[in-house]
Amino acid sequence: MPLLRSIGERFAQERALDGVAVAACLHVTAETANLVAALRAGGASVALCAANPFSTQDDVVAALAGEGVDVLAVRAESAEDYTAHVEDLAARKPRVALDDGADLIEALHADDKRLAGLAGATEETTTGLVRLRAMAAAGALRCPVLAVNEAVSERTFNDRFGTGQSTLDGILRATNVLLAGRTVVVLGYGATGRGVAQRARGAGASVIVCEVDPMAALEARMEGHEVMPALEAAERGDVFVTVTGVRGVLRGEHFERMKDGAILANAGHFDVEIDLDALRDLATGTPREVRPLVEEYDLGARRLYVLAGGRVVNLAAAEGHPAAVMDVSFALHALAVEELLRREGELDPGVHAFPTELDHEVARLKLASLGVEIDALTSEQQEYQRSFRRPG
Ligand SMILES: NC(=O)c1ccc[n+]([C@@H]2O[C@H](COP(=O)([O-])OP(=O)(O)OC[C@H]3O[C@@H](n4cnc5c(N)ncnc54)[C@H](O)[C@@H]3O)[C@@H](O)[C@H]2O)c1
Repeated sequence: MPLLRSIGERFAQERALDGVAVAACLHVTAETANLVAALRAGGASVALCAANPFSTQDDVVAALAGEGVDVLAVRAESAEDYTAHVEDLAARKPRVALDDGADLIEALHADDKRLAGLAGATEETTTGLVRLRAMAAAGALRCPVLAVNEAVSERTFNDRFGTGQSTLDGILRATNVLLAGRTVVVLGYGATGRGVAQRARGAGASVIVCEVDPMAALEARMEGHEVMPALEAAERGDVFVTVTGVRGVLRGEHFERMKDGAILANAGHFDVEIDLDALRDLATGTPREVRPLVEEYDLGARRLYVLAGGRVVNLAAAEGHPAAVMDVSFALHALAVEELLRREGELDPGVHAFPTELDHEVARLKLASLGVEIDALTSEQQEYQRSFRRPG
């Protein structure tokens, strides 16, 4: 992760984070360990818990604990343990909170004392920002949050390329299905769904997109994907991927129309997009595990296969984003920690756009790590940009 390494080296020289307590509720993976290392190089003390009970890599927990990091996570921890760990981190009254899904920020708001020393927080995912904006609209958000998720470099790398590839990776690892010649239905054509659709097409599948937003639907159509309501797509799809951030996207009426052998996966943050209660109601008996992370629901004449219990498939069935993607995301978080401390007391409570100059800085670092050089505007071009006169 060359970006984090170079940021960590600078942090180590400047030591601007000396004594800063950072609480991080992130997926506990090897990539996150590199973010922790960069922050600690700058002098921060970091406490870490999981942003999802099923994404934790236990060997990483052991390695971090061995280096003296406070890490509260174990793979497949119970919902109670998960909540207790988030609570534990919030009760430590951090200076900066790093979040992925807004659970930690919510827990920090449970008690005024927890917020007292907080300079601000970051948020990594769309669902977290939706929750935080709902908090802000209700007048309940009382700290500044930098929307890392909406940095252009994050949208491009993490959502499109990262989730696009790793979602397919999760589906393939779980099922070993051949995508070429199949029909993949992508429900939700946002930043993330675009990546899933693009990669599925690249693997030789025909892609159907289901949307509720006319602009997103139009874009999908112009990209050459079929677009139709989910009820129609239900009859056509071999593989379904929900990636909307919305509850109950695939429901009983869809399951009733699906083909025998259809595979259902979710890449949205919470396991609410596939209505498993409705599927259980339609099925006879209890679901049967036919391969690790693949459950068969018997609907009489047809069998449907749900991956990873409807949980986020690229993390539950694969390893999440590749390190090259998380390098960009976590470089943004690392620079955000500095920015929140630099602007402490200046930023109002609420969700703030990620600063463009930091976004560009990360893109520059990424290009440098790839050995890619780019042009710069000449002075004449800069002059031309500044002028309002019609070129003569
Ligand atoms: N698995 C991962 O690693 C990963 C990575 C990034 C984001 N996410 C999660 O994926 C989800 C989507 O994120 P995003 O950034 O693409 O969001 P987004 O807001 O950019 O896009 C979501 C799209 O879903 C559409 N949609 C909403 N309800 C729908 C419905 N009922 N049927 C069809 N389409 C519907 C919206 O119109 C929108 O275009 C969120 O939960 C986010 O947290 C997961």
